[in-house]
Amino acid sequence: MEPQFWQQRWALNELGFQLEAAHPLLCAQLAAMPASQKVFVPLCGKSPDMHALASRYQVIGAELAEIACRDFFAEAGLLPQITQQAQHQLWQSGAYQLWQGDFFTLPAEAVAGVELIYDRAALIALPEPMRVQYAAKLQQLLPTAQMLLISLEYPQGEKQGPPFVVSPEEIRTLFANAKVELAGVHNITGQGFARRRFATSQLVEKSWWIRW
Ligand SMILES: C[S@@+](CC[C@H](N)C(=O)[O-])C[C@H]1O[C@@H](n2cnc3c(N)ncnc32)[C@H](O)[C@@H]1O
Repeated sequence: MEPQFWQQRWALNELGFQLEAAHPLLCAQLAAMPASQKVFVPLCGKSPDMHALASRYQVIGAELAEIACRDFFAEAGLLPQITQQAQHQLWQSGAYQLWQGDFFTLPAEAVAGVELIYDRAALIALPEPMRVQYAAKLQQLLPTAQMLLISLEYPQGEKQGPPFVVSPEEIRTLFANAKVELAGVHNITGQGFARRRFATSQLVEKSWWIRW
């Protein structure tokens, strides 16, 4: 999706993807997640997952929308310091640093020292050609890392994305040099995806450890 699509979602408060609490597949992994100082959360929105992650890590997010960054700190009762960093605005307070701007132009210095990535509703938010660019950018920013990814599967053709289907085969192709391991399954058929309801005959989220 183009930046304008997402800016409009935020401007119109059309946040069907927004979780009310940390994702159960993240909660299931959190205690056993690797020791690391920092976690990178690409396309982070104002996700409550960032609060769960902050119990163990310094959280570095990347997000396009100013509204998302503003609301994330306001809703957490934090007053951020905002500085201009080339093409991005850096919002920071407490355990959080959000780099506001286009993920695809994020400088490597933003993620210096990061070894861990968490992706919920980032890869699956992008159409297929952008997913290729997204995976390549992550691997270019962080030549060595481990990522907890939450994917989504439903029968292709039963609905249009976003969110898009990302199959196990596609994950293995996008991260061809990585070790890919299934970590958990969350069957949400009939229960909806965050605030949205889809009439798909199946709807399944999976968590994956991807190490490269
Ligand atoms: C489906 S939402 C998911 C947000 C968050 N991960 C969550 O779980 O709530 C996708 C987010 O990606 C952001 N986004 C889309 N394209 C982006 C880009 N090129 N750079 C940075 N953020 C982007 C959107 O503004 C939106 O907040």
